[in-house]
Amino acid sequence: MTARLENLKQALRTFGLDSIALNPGPSLTYLTGLCFHLSERPVVVIFTPDKPPVIVLPELEMLKVAGSPFQAFPYPENPAEWDGVFRKAVQSLGLDGKRIGVEPRALRLLEFRQVKNGAREAEFPDASRLVSSLRIKKDAGEIAAMRKAVKVAQSALEAILPLIKIGMTEKELAAELTVQLLRHGSQPEMPFSPILSTGPNSANPHASPSERKLQPGDLLVIDWGATVDGYISDLTRTFAVGEVDAEYRKIHQIVQEANAAGRAAARPGVQCAEVDKAAREVIEKAGYGQYFTHRTGHGIGMESHEDPYMRGDNEQLLEPGMAFTVEPGIYLPGRNGVRIEDNVVITEDGAECLSSLERNLIVV
Ligand code: CO
Repeated sequence: MTARLENLKQALRTFGLDSIALNPGPSLTYLTGLCFHLSERPVVVIFTPDKPPVIVLPELEMLKVAGSPFQAFPYPENPAEWDGVFRKAVQSLGLDGKRIGVEPRALRLLEFRQVKNGAREAEFPDASRLVSSLRIKKDAGEIAAMRKAVKVAQSALEAILPLIKIGMTEKELAAELTVQLLRHGSQPEMPFSPILSTGPNSANPHASPSERKLQPGDLLVIDWGATVDGYISDLTRTFAVGEVDAEYRKIHQIVQEANAAGRAAARPGVQCAEVDKAAREVIEKAGYGQYFTHRTGHGIGMESHEDPYMRGDNEQLLEPGMAFTVEPGIYLPGRNGVRIEDNVVITEDGAECLSSLERNLIVV
């Protein structure tokens, strides 16, 4: 943690900020190891380059920071007393008129107001890029956790394959998968609820499991992940329920090739856009470009969507340690859809694919 806090101090200087204010979430956990549930009781940690981090938190949470280098400002249960404690905490850092970075995606108005009360003339620039610059390159420990999360996810899926039967609902299958993810070692906080979609539902990339029953001729898309040691995996495979339409076999083959092309394009020094382009070209050349309706991938780590994003406009260069998904798809509206998703980490001279599950179309 000390190294991460040192890197943060360096980054504050590089990005021209006097401090950064974070509420509970992955960035705070990354920097400090602290885990708080987001609740109606605001918790804020304010980091500056030269003073110990200041934390404002409920008195009942004080044990979490015992023995840590934080300057703690605990508040009692009565909300009427919170404003005063926050004001004192923020003022102790002398931040009025200074630049206090925030994460707009995470910091709620609840916490923002409290910080602002103690620094009325401060500016609050978006510090998302600063935080991303710290978290985007994973170290060996983080990659090891993601490798485990992939393994857990893969074993869980293998355990449910023999259970898949015509007539069972998407929800029933989702329940089996969730149980197996937990049995195989996922933390209960999964990166997202598994997507199990069949037939026309599979043509919706973000479908949620329904009461629809598996029918012969369906494609079955399963998009699932596990969390291990705070790091996630995010995989997708598409199956055939019995004999399927020849066109579905064809689009599966195309997506499989697009997935391989995307993975093959991933290496240090290459723009994220190139990974997207490599996968997309395969689908466009096959005449299905208009049915590939999303970016090719997203970064993974503590969150299931983080930098870097494999998007056609993203000129960001890939560097060793960056981890992301490659997940092209073809979705035929009202009919069926295919997606194949793998998890990749950039190495010194190429990319390692963490996932190894069969990608050929399996008939269940
Ligand atoms: Co994904």
